[in-house]
Amino acid sequence: MYQIAVFVSGGGTNLQAIIDQIDQGRLAGVRIACVIASKADCPALARARRAGLATDVVPRKQFVQLADFDRALLAVLARKEIDLVVLAGFLSLLGKDFLAAYPDRVINIHPSLLPAFSGPGFYGLKPHQEALAYGVRLSGATVHLVDPTYDTGPVVLQKAVAVKQTDTAQDLQERIMREAEQVILPEAIALFAAGRICVQGRRVFIEEENGL
Ligand code: GRF
Repeated sequence: MYQIAVFVSGGGTNLQAIIDQIDQGRLAGVRIACVIASKADCPALARARRAGLATDVVPRKQFVQLADFDRALLAVLARKEIDLVVLAGFLSLLGKDFLAAYPDRVINIHPSLLPAFSGPGFYGLKPHQEALAYGVRLSGATVHLVDPTYDTGPVVLQKAVAVKQTDTAQDLQERIMREAEQVILPEAIALFAAGRICVQGRRVFIEEENGL
């Protein structure tokens, strides 16, 4: 079994997409070993519990030092033999100690085509508000490897979504979540589980299905 830990902070729609894909047999061999929330009252936790998943809360606000937050997260994952850590609407940075424990095995979903509309504060509606303000014709979502700063790690997958003239930020957010995020995050997990991801510095190569 390919064991994943999913980290959440908010609505859990990306977690739900992973749960649904596993239930529909489209992520064979993948198991959600645990869901860890950085906020005790987030709806994502309710989704996890409804799906019968093991959950834990490691409140970011309880830790002044990032290293202590890292340590608490690592303690929850210890002995669980996690193959991949998936940040799904997770809003906290991870420190170098945590990342060193899972080298090239922590991925995040960001609601824009990186490097556009990213960095500190670019979550929720903000990436979409900025995309509309800039007047881009395309936005979308990116799955990337996580490094110690927001949204700057090597790109794994991206999916573009056309921006409509009538879009509000909410319209764009909803379409990108549905048409991009909830497609490429499970797709990236499947690629990692199949051992098809090869990271070389900033470049991420996807091996062909037949291994050639
Ligand atoms: C999504 O747009 C995600 O990309 C961003 O937060 C939003 C909500 O995610 N990080 P979720 O519903 O908590 O999965």
